[in-house]
Amino acid sequence: MKHCITLFAACVLGLSLPCIAADPPKEPVNTVCPISGKPVDPACTVEYEGRTYAFAGDACRTKFNEARTNSLYQKLGGAAAIDAAVELFYTKVLVDERVKHYFDDVNMTKQKRKQKAFLSTALGSPVAWTGKDMRTAHADITGLTDMHFNAIGEHLKATLEELKISKDLIDQVLAIVETTRNDVLNRPKKTL
Ligand code: HEM
Repeated sequence: MKHCITLFAACVLGLSLPCIAADPPKEPVNTVCPISGKPVDPACTVEYEGRTYAFAGDACRTKFNEARTNSLYQKLGGAAAIDAAVELFYTKVLVDERVKHYFDDVNMTKQKRKQKAFLSTALGSPVAWTGKDMRTAHADITGLTDMHFNAIGEHLKATLEELKISKDLIDQVLAIVETTRNDVLNRPKKTL
C-alpha cells in the first residue's frame, strides 16, 4: 500500500522513478542500452524472445516494448515468421540461375542467421543489427546490377505470398528492402 501511494505521488508530482523490474532479472545479454546507447541498469530488464535485455532506464524500456508491439516485424509474426521466411527465401535464391552463383562459397548457415537478424532490425525489431552496413557487405561482390537486386526482391515477395502474408504488409516489407538498393549495388548515395 505504502509503495502504491509513493508511486501515485511520484506520478502526480511528475517525479522520475528508478527502473522497477517486474521479476528478479536473469543475466542480461547486453551492457549497452539498445535504445539510448548508454550503459544499462542491470535491474531494468525485459524478457524478449527467450533472452533478457537490459536498458538504461524505464523510458528506454517503454520505448522497446512499444516497438515490440507496433512494428511491422511483430505484425508479420516476429522471430518465428522471419525464421520461416528467410529459410524459404534462400531455397528459392539458391536455385535461381540469375543469382545462385553468388552464394557458391558462402556459408549459408551464417548467411541465413545474418539475414534473419538484418531483416528483423530493418522491419522494426527492437534488437539492433550489429553486422556490416549494406554497402560494405556487398562492396566486394562483383557485377551486381538491378537485375540481381530485382531477382532477390521477387523471391522475397514470392516467399511472403507463400506464407500468406497480406499484400499490404508485403508492400511495406518490399518498400523497406528497396531502401537498400543503392547501397547493395554500390551506387553513389542520393543527395538532396
Ligand atoms: C535485396 C537486398 C539485400 C539485402 C537486404 C541483403 C542483405 C545481406 C546481409 C544482411 C548480408 C550479411 C552482411 C554481413 O556479413 O554482416 C549479405 C551478404 C551477402 N549478400 Fe546480400 N542482400 C541484398 C541483396 C543481395 C543481392 C542482390 C545479392 C546477389 C545476388 C546478394 C548477395 C550477398 C552475398 C553473396 C553475401 C555474402 C557475402 C560474404 O559473406 O562474403 N545480396 N546480404
